[in-house]
Amino acid sequence: MKNSSTSWIRVLVLFFLIFGLMEYFVDSGDKPAIIAYPIAQFFMLMVLMILIAIELILRAVENVMFQTLSEEAKARYQASNSKTWEWTWGRKMYLKLLGSKPIEKEGEIILDHNYDGIRELDNELPPWWVYMFYATIIFAVAYLVRFHVFNDYDQDTEYEQDVAAAQLEIEAYKKTAKDLVDINTVELLTDASDLTAGEAIFTNNCIPCHMADGGGGIGPNLTDNYWILGGGIKNVFHTISEGGRDGKGMVAWKQTLKPLEMAQVASYILEEISGKVPANPKAAEGEIWVDPNAPQQETPAEGMSEQPKDSTTIAVN
Ligand code: HEC
Repeated sequence: MKNSSTSWIRVLVLFFLIFGLMEYFVDSGDKPAIIAYPIAQFFMLMVLMILIAIELILRAVENVMFQTLSEEAKARYQASNSKTWEWTWGRKMYLKLLGSKPIEKEGEIILDHNYDGIRELDNELPPWWVYMFYATIIFAVAYLVRFHVFNDYDQDTEYEQDVAAAQLEIEAYKKTAKDLVDINTVELLTDASDLTAGEAIFTNNCIPCHMADGGGGIGPNLTDNYWILGGGIKNVFHTISEGGRDGKGMVAWKQTLKPLEMAQVASYILEEISGKVPANPKAAEGEIWVDPNAPQQETPAEGMSEQPKDSTTIAVN
């Protein structure tokens, strides 16, 4: 009954054991069960109280039994208890792992030779070190077989898997962050909502020079296949963002419009205006645009030579 520290250790060990088991078996998603389910906190509190109660009862029982002992037996009992036995196991284990002999027993392992009074102990290698060494050997064999004999999985595969996973994450992220588009990532938007937004932007900003139907005025005709600065979503986005050639009057809209808005109005031009027949079409300017990424059979034979020179410099990819 003097060993109150044993009781406390017992209570704590049991408590964390039950806690760990609860966390392991209760499926609570990402969060620990103790946070996901407030009832779990109540449960653990009850567990703690019951454990303490059990210890108290054990202590009381022990006390009652102690009183029934004879004086001599009492003395023997106390003597055996006063040795703090609960730590000896741990200390022995620790010394064993260190592998060194206690100082008193050093005589057993002293070597014969004697260098001017300096003598040598034949200590064993510490077991923790030896076991770790064995573990590295096992690991090395497993590694060798896996990566050099079977070779079914190597750094390249791992890299490709990681890149593929990251690519998926980027795609998912882009869907939630449309506003991040730039010349490298812009793609033709075909959603009705984007095209309606594009139409509104066109109506508010572009009509004075390009006309409502895109027939052209100060600015060139946007309905034909001829482009001064290159067709296709990337070139058109680039023209809108950075403006036309100096002195022509087409400003860099990136000052006024957000990237997504520029992508929307560019898509509106390509999807809704391009190909329509305007009321007063302005004469074609520039050259016929041929998408270098289009499938081969759709490209006219002489198409490649007709590529506008700007398209090669502006088009990314
Ligand atoms: C002040 C007049 C003006 C306004 C307003 C204007 N543009 Fe232009 N735009 C031009 C001129 C001029 C050009 C020709 C630039 C050149 O030749 O370098 C042009 C060229 C273009 C081109 C490239 C055409 C080609 O053949 O390569 C696109 C695309 C375009 N504008 C889209 C727009 C959009 C979208 C808006 C509205 C956000 C807009 N423009 C507003 C004057 C204007």
